[in-house]
Amino acid sequence: MPPPRTGRGLLWLGLVLSSVCVALGSETQADSTTDGLNVLLIIVDDLRPSLGCYGDKLVRSPNIDQLASHSLLFQNAFAQQAVCAPSRVSFLTGRRPDTTRLYDFNSYWRVHAGNFSTIPQYFKENGYMTMSVGKVFHPGISSNHTDDSPYSWSFPPYHPSSEKYENTKTCRGPDGELHANLLCPVDVLDVPEGTLPDKQSTEQAIQLLEKMKTSASPFFLAVGYHKPHIPFRYPKEFQKLYPLENITLAPDPEVPDGLPPVAYNPWMDIRQREDVQALNISVPYGPIPVDFQQKIRQSYFASVSYLDTQVGRLLSTLDDLQLANSTIIAFTSDHGRQSMDLVELVSLFPTLAGLAGLQVPPRCPVPSFHVELCREGKNLLKHFRFRDLEEDPYLPGNPRELIAYSQYPRPADIPQWNSDKPSLKDIKIMGYSIRTIDYRYTVWVGFNPDEFLANFSDIHAGELYFVDSDPLQDHNMYNDSQGGDLFQLLMP
Ligand SMILES: *[C@@H]1O[C@H](CO)[C@@H](O)[C@H](O)[C@H]1NC(C)=O
Ligand SMILES: *[C@@H]1O[C@H](CO)[C@@H](O)[C@H](O)[C@H]1NC(C)=O
Ligand SMILES: *[C@@H]1O[C@H](CO)[C@@H](O)[C@H](O)[C@H]1NC(C)=O
Ligand SMILES: *[C@@H]1O[C@H](CO)[C@@H](O)[C@H](O)[C@H]1NC(C)=O
Ligand SMILES: *[C@@H]1O[C@H](CO)[C@@H](O)[C@H](O)[C@H]1NC(C)=O
Repeated sequence: MPPPRTGRGLLWLGLVLSSVCVALGSETQADSTTDGLNVLLIIVDDLRPSLGCYGDKLVRSPNIDQLASHSLLFQNAFAQQAVCAPSRVSFLTGRRPDTTRLYDFNSYWRVHAGNFSTIPQYFKENGYMTMSVGKVFHPGISSNHTDDSPYSWSFPPYHPSSEKYENTKTCRGPDGELHANLLCPVDVLDVPEGTLPDKQSTEQAIQLLEKMKTSASPFFLAVGYHKPHIPFRYPKEFQKLYPLENITLAPDPEVPDGLPPVAYNPWMDIRQREDVQALNISVPYGPIPVDFQQKIRQSYFASVSYLDTQVGRLLSTLDDLQLANSTIIAFTSDHGRQSMDLVELVSLFPTLAGLAGLQVPPRCPVPSFHVELCREGKNLLKHFRFRDLEEDPYLPGNPRELIAYSQYPRPADIPQWNSDKPSLKDIKIMGYSIRTIDYRYTVWVGFNPDEFLANFSDIHAGELYFVDSDPLQDHNMYNDSQGGDLFQLLMP
């Protein structure tokens, strides 16, 4: 008799500088690393750990919580850069942004940095049917306008037809007119095409799973959801889950005194929305009126619950098709925010390969621009060794291993119009950040975008926060410390 199949897997949460989220789950017995396991990779856009499984008391996320309950849930996973295109290219190639040389949206790594293999490409080359639904790679130049086809995918990726309306005037305002708003609860029957992108993506993914049921080869299906990325365009019934009077404010809404201006994100993307523009909020520091803060949080949470129902539909399809016990489920976000295991998204590639029983790509040499297949992250397979997750003692190894690196570019020392998303040529400063079990340490240093060179003797600002005493990172201790030495010691 085969050993009993216990549902388990990995759920993985990412977090960066001030924004991120990730989760990895598998319904299969992960210690058996059986050949031919399928992979379902769910990528969520801008999801922070506002989920029941991360202890959020308000947010309703029963389907994701259920997945998490038999998954390995990473409490402390970090994206390598909290911007869609750089983050996705980084974790999908298993290389850090300084190797993909993508910090904005405007270059394709294969011609700009190196011809790096991707996770789906590797599975495809190992006999898998690889399929992309929705936002997996960031669309546009950063994936050569083809989501890296044909290299990554067995056939052309699917994009929901209704995604073109995401930023258009489809939100009914109090004046009865349609606007391009940040807050956009909709009557789905009333919007163009009568549907929303994430619903379409779920439907497409379900159809593909049904086809795969009888497929001879294993599959790698990546499903990329748009919500809860702004604008918050979601079926209005989800708003009812979160009455405004129950919405609390962020625990630390003020800009911290010791925050260096270079670290501040002036959220220009949000300001462009019609409903936000109408508030005439001062640039760069705000504040956003309190009632609008509550409405933003309400719509974010509602978008998460809407996303959760889509994930629920996917997972029950796997169950109905009896594919759940042969499919590794990885659930992650490109960025979002949140704290035990320090892991990096760049480790997704070797870990998924290892879990599926494929050869784990070798460690990258430095530099590795000429090497097509190697890994900068770690194979986290050892985390799955234990038969019963409840008993997983999780003994930290070499403390040096327990460091996560992230980075973020800036065009100037003080916040300006393009501070959140500078183009490569405008990058003057790079924030390099390390997170250990005990602290978050960041230095903002001069950066030359022509040479891709950071100058660590040109320090513009620094940040140091202690995790235990200051979990929300409100008290910058950099000036009280001998921080520079620490950073040199810990650079990868
Ligand atoms: C890049 O890699 C792909 C996939 O392995 C290969 O088909 C292509 O020829 C490579 N391109 C170059 C310029 O080496
Ligand atoms: C990118 O797309 C263009 C146009 O479709 C194509 O000619 C080019 O070969 C692609 N680049 C790579 C590296 O495949
Ligand atoms: C809102 O808060 C009240 C009082 O704490 C609670 O009774 C009610 O269940 C909450 N409503 C929702 C939808 O969470
Ligand atoms: C917007 O705010 C600025 C100062 O913060 C003020 O001078 C201006 O009159 C305001 N505009 C509107 C339309 O309220
Ligand atoms: C998965 O479960 C189904 C029924 O629940 C069973 O028929 C099938 O053999 C199982 N597959 C594996 C790989 O255990």
